[in-house]
This record gives sequence, structure tokens and C-alpha cells, in this order.
Amino acid sequence: MEGPYRIEDYIKDAKVRKIFGQVFDQSTIGAIHDLANKGFIDYLEHIISTGKEAHVYKALDKAGHARAVKIYMIETSDFRNMRRYIEGDLRFKNVGHDRRDIIYLWTKKEYKNLESFSEAGVRVPMPFAFTKNVLVMEFIGKEQAALPIKEDPIEDIAFLYETLVESIARMIYKAKVIHGDLSEYNILNFDGTPVIIDCGQAVLFNHPHAMEFFERDLKNIANYFEKQGIKKSIDEIKADIKRAKEKI
Ligand SMILES: Nc1ncnc2c1ncn2[C@@H]1O[C@H](COP(=O)(O)OP(=O)(O)OP(=O)(O)O)[C@@H](O)[C@H]1O
Ligand SMILES: [Mg+2]
Repeated sequence: MEGPYRIEDYIKDAKVRKIFGQVFDQSTIGAIHDLANKGFIDYLEHIISTGKEAHVYKALDKAGHARAVKIYMIETSDFRNMRRYIEGDLRFKNVGHDRRDIIYLWTKKEYKNLESFSEAGVRVPMPFAFTKNVLVMEFIGKEQAALPIKEDPIEDIAFLYETLVESIARMIYKAKVIHGDLSEYNILNFDGTPVIIDCGQAVLFNHPHAMEFFERDLKNIANYFEKQGIKKSIDEIKADIKRAKEKI
């Protein structure tokens, strides 16, 4: 979708209405309107990423601050897989089977995870608001969105390692939440500082599969650093995380 579009114009301008109608379903348009009425979104500028589960837009809020708007796709999201990450997380009880309800809960879960990680001192996008399947957060980037380290590596690899180890320590010891999809695809390079994104799947540490997700995260991290010439076993990374606990 080519922007920028002012959300208000959706009401006044048939052309904008038509474009929105082709891109979003009615309830998503309702959610965008709700967030626009509350001042969290004024303009949708352009699309940053179109995945199977979510589309991410650059937006401006009423005061002109850059925002990232992540919109989960009702039709194409794998809600059965999402359900496996919600059920067993004690923050969410009585998880139903309805596709929409699960995707709405997933959006809320990403908001809550970003909030917990921020409070624990992990550098993630600050979450601002959510309605249904639409989440508004801090935009990471300048004019353009920051790229994942997969595409735009952080040069100071030792700094990246130290920061990630400390971030993981903050996540598990302070937030008590396991990220669950940590990899070079979900860490953005923001001017040399790593910013961890994509937190929808993150679960409380006492979720029945938390340890399995944690081991997978560490394996991804170990593989990434090995490719960058830093060979660390999973046990070494665990020991580094334990050591980092002392300084957080
Ligand atoms: N807060 C943000 N600021 C800037 N860019 C962002 C932000 N959040 C996400 N992005 C961009 O959108 C892309 C996809 O975001 P994210 O990883 O959260 O979605 P996803 O769930 O992986 O989507 P899918 O897996 O369906 O592609 C990121 O790689 C990044 O380019
Ligand atoms: Mg991602």
C-alpha cells in the first residue's frame, strides 16, 4: 500500500476508502479507526514488511511521532500454532478456539511482552496501544526502518554479544519471560545498538514448553555467533547469562 494516508480521510475520500477496503477487512479498519480516535495513529505512511502473519507499517501519531503499526492478518495467521504459545501461559486463561479471538489475544500478548521487556530494561520497541489485531509501538529507525542484523550486521560483534547476553538475563530473571523466536531476523541494528523485536510468541518462564523455546533461542544465538567467528557452546552462553545476572 502506497501512502501516506490520513486515517480521517477514510471517511471523506472514496478513493482512500477503496484502497483500505482492498487491504484490510472491516474489523481491522474499525481497530485502526479506534486507535486514530485516541490519537495513536494519524497517518499510515508506507508498508515496511509484509509477512504471512503480520504486516508492519510506518505511521505518524497525532503529535507527529514516528510509529510502527503491526497488523496481524486474520486470514493467513496460523492461529492453531499461536494457541500453543498462549495456552499454558498463566497470564491468559480460558483460551478459546475462535480464530479471531486467538489473534486478538496474540496481539495483546505481544503488547504485554514488549511492556514487560521494556520494564526489565531490555531494548525493545516501546509499546503504546493495541486494539483487536492492531499494535502501535515505537518506530525503530530514522527515515527508513532499521534492518535486522541478518541484513545489516552490527560491526562491534563483542558489544553485540555482551548486550544480547545482558538482554537475555533481563528477560529471564527480571521479566521472567522467554522470547521464543530470538534470531538474527528479529534483532534490528539501530545505529549499532541491537533492538529486539517480534515478541508475540514470548511466554512466561513457567509455560510447559518454556525450556524448549529457551534452548532453541540459545541454539540460534550460538549458530549466529559461530558464523561471525565467535565460537560459544550453549553451556558457555548459559554461564555468561548467569554472570550477567549479577550486574542487572
Ligand atoms: N518497531 C519497529 N520499528 C521498525 N521496524 C519494525 C518494527 N517492528 C517490526 N519492524 C519491521 O517489520 C519486520 C517484521 O516485523 P516482525 O518480525 O515483528 O514481524 P513477523 O511476525 O516476523 O512477521 P512475519 O514473520 O509474518 O514476517 C521487521 O523485520 C522489521 O523490518
Ligand atoms: Mg520477525
